[in-house]
Amino acid sequence: MTPIGSYPQTRLRRNRRDIFTRRLVAEHRLSIDDLIWPIFVTEGEGRVEPIASMPGVNRVSLDRLEAHVAEAADLGIPALALFPVTPTDIRDAGGTEALNPDNLMCRAARLLKQAYPQIGLIGDVALDPYTDHGHDGLIENDYVVNDASVEVLKRQAVNQAAAGIDVIAPSDMMDGRIGAIRAALDEAGLVDTRIMSYAAKYASAFYGPFRDALGSGARLTGDKKTYQMDPANTDEALRETALDLAEGADMVMVKPGMPYLDIVRRVHERFAVPTFAYQVSGEYAMLMGAINNGWLDRDRTILESLLAFKRAGASGVLTYFAPEAARLLRNG
Ligand code: PBG
Repeated sequence: MTPIGSYPQTRLRRNRRDIFTRRLVAEHRLSIDDLIWPIFVTEGEGRVEPIASMPGVNRVSLDRLEAHVAEAADLGIPALALFPVTPTDIRDAGGTEALNPDNLMCRAARLLKQAYPQIGLIGDVALDPYTDHGHDGLIENDYVVNDASVEVLKRQAVNQAAAGIDVIAPSDMMDGRIGAIRAALDEAGLVDTRIMSYAAKYASAFYGPFRDALGSGARLTGDKKTYQMDPANTDEALRETALDLAEGADMVMVKPGMPYLDIVRRVHERFAVPTFAYQVSGEYAMLMGAINNGWLDRDRTILESLLAFKRAGASGVLTYFAPEAARLLRNG
């Protein structure tokens, strides 16, 4: 507990007066070790395609991938999260391309493992990049069905892990999928593949630019409110997290990030497990909009927005700012 004092004996400004005391008393620190960089991969050759609603973020084809990641590797970013832009003509109702051992995601994973064996690869498990309806699971009678979706998701997870994905990150929010995925991985002999569950993932407006990036937004029928969490709830996030941990998750995630720091704090305090947060596409778009207008200072805004996650108790952050932040941190 902070000792109780009163002015003039206590002057909190004393410790803020000089850089050396500010450094000594800093309670939280952002480091390159905290950063996970989400990247978008696409088919074709020579492609580095900008995403209009995410200024500075590109979709890159595999022949450009090694170069795309070179700086991040050099900066020592520990892990990448991969998202494939599946060609629309091979998306179908069942999301079957998710199970193809040579799909874009698996080819990207093999390529990156070879080029940068030290970088951890995180694979998003959900069917939305592969379905023609843009939902994360299978649809029957206009409803995203749970158990049949889990059957496909667990096979998707094994497919990714077999291609070299180190960390399976189920973002689909089906009930029971962590346990099913853990069992399927074990059965395939992939006992060391980690699971970072999107434990508390909300039905958020902040995913809009990501869906533009993947081309899944325009085709999305309806919304994801029957499986993603209601932004009104916080106790429910604890129940979701407890279940995912009981089912075998090694790490948990809260998503979105900045508007949900209260959830990061509660989850971390309650469970004392590695807790991650995703500063999602809409948060990135929001900050970049203001930065590009000259309304916010770029460097300070990036670092402050990320430090907030550490203060809330996060072990690390998935952020599109990862390379930029790492550059700033390296240069002090
Ligand atoms: C897919 C998925 C989404 C995001 C990560 N995985 C979108 C969604 O649920 O619709 C969003 C990431 C971002 O907005 O940056 N299940």
